[in-house]
Amino acid sequence: MNKDIERILHSEEDIKAAVKQIGTQITADYAGKAPLLVGILKGSVVFMADLMREIDLNCDIDFMVAKSYGNAAVSSGNVKIIKDLDTDVTGRDLIIVEDILDSARTLYSVRNYLMQKNPASVKICTLLDKKVERAFDLKADYKCFDIENEFVVGYGLDYAEKYRCLPYVGVLKREVYEK
Ligand code: IMP
Ligand code: MG
Repeated sequence: MNKDIERILHSEEDIKAAVKQIGTQITADYAGKAPLLVGILKGSVVFMADLMREIDLNCDIDFMVAKSYGNAAVSSGNVKIIKDLDTDVTGRDLIIVEDILDSARTLYSVRNYLMQKNPASVKICTLLDKKVERAFDLKADYKCFDIENEFVVGYGLDYAEKYRCLPYVGVLKREVYEK
C-alpha cells in the first residue's frame, strides 16, 4: 500500500466485481440500444476503461472536460465546457460516467448542458457516491459504492493530480493535504 494511504476502502477485487455487476445491469437495461458513454475527464478514465469492457452492447465512448461556476441550480449557463464531445448526441442514449458524486455541482451542469442537445436519454453512472448534503438535486442511476464523507484517491481519483494510478480506492492520510 502507498505510504500516504490511511486505509483501503475498496480493493482491486471488490471494484472489479462491482464494475462487472453495473456492466451487466447496463447491458440488460439498454438491450437492443447503442448507448454513448460520456466520460468526465480525468477522474473517470480508469472506471470507463473497465466498465466499457463489462458492457456487452454496441456502445461507443466520448469524453468531456467541464468546469462549473456560480449557482448551477439556477441555470445551466454556468458550466464552461473546456473540451466538448466530438459526437453528435441528438437522439442518442447517453450514460455519463463519473468517478465520484460529491456536491454534484459539475454533473448537474453537464447533464443540463447535454439535455439541451436533444439526446434520447441521459443517465448517470458513478463509481462512488459520497454521503453529503447535496445542493444539487441529482441522483446516480448506476453506482458501484456509497462512501462516507472522506477524501479518497486511487482508481482514477486524484489529490493534486497524484494517486490516480493506484489500483484501489483508499482514504488519503489527513497529514498529506493538511501540511
Ligand atoms: P462535485 O461537483 O462536488 O460532485 O465534485 C466532483 C469532482 O470533485 C469529482 O469528479 C472529483 O474530481 C472531485 N472530488 C470530490 N470528492 C473527491 C474525493 O474524495 N477524492 C478525489 N476527488 C474528489
Ligand atoms: Mg478531480
